[in-house]
Formats: sequence, C-alpha cells, structure tokens
Amino acid sequence: MEPADPVPPFDQSLWRRRIPILSSHVLMNACSHAPQSDATREAAESYLHSWNTRGMDWDGWMADVQGARRAFAQLVNADEDSIAIFGSVSDATSAVATAIDFARGRDRALVTEAEFPTVGHAWLAQERRGARVDWVPVTSGTVEAGDIAARLGDNTAVLSVSHGYYLNGAMQDLTDVAQLAHDRGALVYVDTYQTAGAVPIDVKATNVDFLAAGCLKYLMGIPGIAFLYVKPSLLATLEPLMTGWFGRVNPFAFDTRTLDWAPTARRFDMGTPPILNACIARAGIEMVNSIGVPQIRAWHEVLSARLLAGAQSRGLTVHGTTDVRHKTASTACVVADAGAVEAAMRKQHVLASARGPVVRLAPHFFTTLADVDRALDVLASIVTHRSNPPYAPSR
Ligand SMILES: Cc1ncc(COP(=O)(O)O)c(C=O)c1O
Repeated sequence: MEPADPVPPFDQSLWRRRIPILSSHVLMNACSHAPQSDATREAAESYLHSWNTRGMDWDGWMADVQGARRAFAQLVNADEDSIAIFGSVSDATSAVATAIDFARGRDRALVTEAEFPTVGHAWLAQERRGARVDWVPVTSGTVEAGDIAARLGDNTAVLSVSHGYYLNGAMQDLTDVAQLAHDRGALVYVDTYQTAGAVPIDVKATNVDFLAAGCLKYLMGIPGIAFLYVKPSLLATLEPLMTGWFGRVNPFAFDTRTLDWAPTARRFDMGTPPILNACIARAGIEMVNSIGVPQIRAWHEVLSARLLAGAQSRGLTVHGTTDVRHKTASTACVVADAGAVEAAMRKQHVLASARGPVVRLAPHFFTTLADVDRALDVLASIVTHRSNPPYAPSR
C-alpha cells in the first residue's frame, strides 16, 4: 500500500474557503503577490466605510496603523517600539543606509549579489557619502557563509544580506550572518521580504541589527507598506537623512525649526502613514500569525519536497539548492523565455512568477499537494511543447 500523503498541521480547508480566487486558480506565485482573503477585503472595506461615514477618524486610523506595527512585531518577536513603517523595502533600506556612519575607518558596505536589486541600489547610492560597496558573490545559486566571512574586514560598517534569495529561494542562516558581522564589528541588515510569513523569524534570538519586509508576498497583504525592525540598543545613535514629522519626539508639536528624534524606532517613520495599506497589512499578518509561521513552514517543507521531486521526475531543471531545509517555499525552474511560460501557465489558470531565467513556483499555506502536481504538469507540458514545437508540414 502507498503511504498516505502528509497533511498540513492546520485546518487548511477552513483557510482555503477564505480565499475566493482559489476556486478558479492554482496559485503558485506567493513569492510575487499574495491573494485576497476575506480578512484583507473586510479591512479595506472597513477603512472605506469609515472614510465615507465619519469623513475623518485620525484616532481610529492611527490605531489601525499601530495595529499593523504590533502584528509585524509579533511576527518577528520584536517589541512594538522597535518597528518603523515605510511605503516599501526600498524606502526602509535607504533610510537605514543613510543612518549609517561610513566615516571613522569603516567605509565599506558588504552586500551580497543575492540582494533584490533595490537593496543593492540603496547601498550604491551611499558611495556619494563616502561609502564603498564590496560584493559577496552568488555561487551555484547561493551565498556561502565562508565567502561572507572572507570579505568582512575591520573597515566593514555594514553587511547586507537577503534572508531568502528572490531568484531561487536559497536561504541564509540569520544567526550565523549576524555573528559573522558582529565578530568584525559590523552591523547587519537583513531583507526578509521573501521569508516573512513563510519562515519563523526571531530578531532577538538571531541578534540582527536591522530587518525589513513588505507585506505583498507571504504576509497576505498588498504593496505600499513595509516594516523595519531596528535593534533598540542602536536607536540612539541613528539619525536617518530621510525623515519627516512622524519621526519627531512629538509629531504634533508642529515645531518646524526643531529636528529632534523619537526615542523609539518611530524616529525612522516619515510622513503620514499609508493607512489603507496598514489596515490591509494588519489583517494579512494577523491571519499568518494565527495560523502560525512554524506550522506554515512545516507545510512549506512538504510542498517543497513535492516540487523538487516532481520537477525532477518531469525532467525540469531546478535552479539553486535542492535541500528543503535551506530554501524558502519558492522553487525555481530554468526555462527559455520565462515571461512567455508564465503567460502560458496563466492561460491554464495556474499563476507562477517569472524572474530572469526562471519560472518560480511558490506555494503557501493554502496550497495542496494536488495544486503542486497540477502546476508542475502544466509547466512541464508548456516547456516540452515549446522546446519541441509541433511538426508543421511545409506546403
Ligand atoms: C527580496 C525582495 N526585496 C525587496 C523587494 C522589493 O521591495 P519594494 O518594492 O518594497 O521596495 C522584493 C520584491 O519583489 C523582494 O523580493
């Protein structure tokens, strides 16, 4: 008798019922965009209703923003006071980069080539402030800790690492990279956009200095909001060059001539927060928190194993690591013309995500093993069909 398929450690059918698009599509694009759930839709509608009926409700809306901050803090085991809110991870990274002092013998930013481009750009822009960017290469689809260690020097001010590589899901061990950076007196900045909501994250246990994530992927939200964790012991030394009235000790002091700094991570906040986005983000993150990231991760590992075995048995070429413990939920298959393959999959109601030379299949907590098999079948049939176009007799 065949062994029974594993089942998720949560009531998956209950959660699936809360995501309407699952009735018509197989979603394998969690690395790119989360689906709408009843919770996120209700959150958006509740803001629109409040706006329409109350006209203005600053106290209620700021409480919603604070609720989003709290939900993210809970997600990464941080205190609420150590979380700042931005419009994107690009903004958060730039704010951190401008707060770092590249003088006094530490003028290097050590950045991995696995960063999402925007993160590399934020560090490169600091070259006008006297910083120099050194790069850690991607080798065989991953960034080796040894390559980081070899390039860290006493002149490194900050190490910038992506927790999950956007291209193929290869993961870094945050405790290890933080230790490596701290051993050389450097700070560590982590982009967790590809892991937040998919992999358990604990800022205290890992001892990272800065950690950013947006809500659009595994956090079940939308674009236009991102969170930044800043280690509390560093706050007093950090004054970002991008700032605004919400970063002040009292934003409502309306003192144009005084630039003071909130004692908490709120000093990184900028202007009026993205309220609608925060309402939706809060609902999405609370959904993830209530399922439980460790439970989600356990199911992702099952799905990854199925994806990797299924890709191999269908003759697909996987990009990067095949060790489920060292990758996110995303599995990347190398294809010719990834954009066209993504579009062809969509025609069959399977949403995947093209990036450079790969099509990424990124399931989430709502994904079934049947979804994985279907996505792989569709991908394999498209790839086979494209590389062996049907014989067309010449006239
Ligand atoms: C790892 C990672 N970092 C950053 C980003 C982009 O962040 P933002 O558009 O919020 O600046 C993405 C988007 O796909 C990403 O995957």
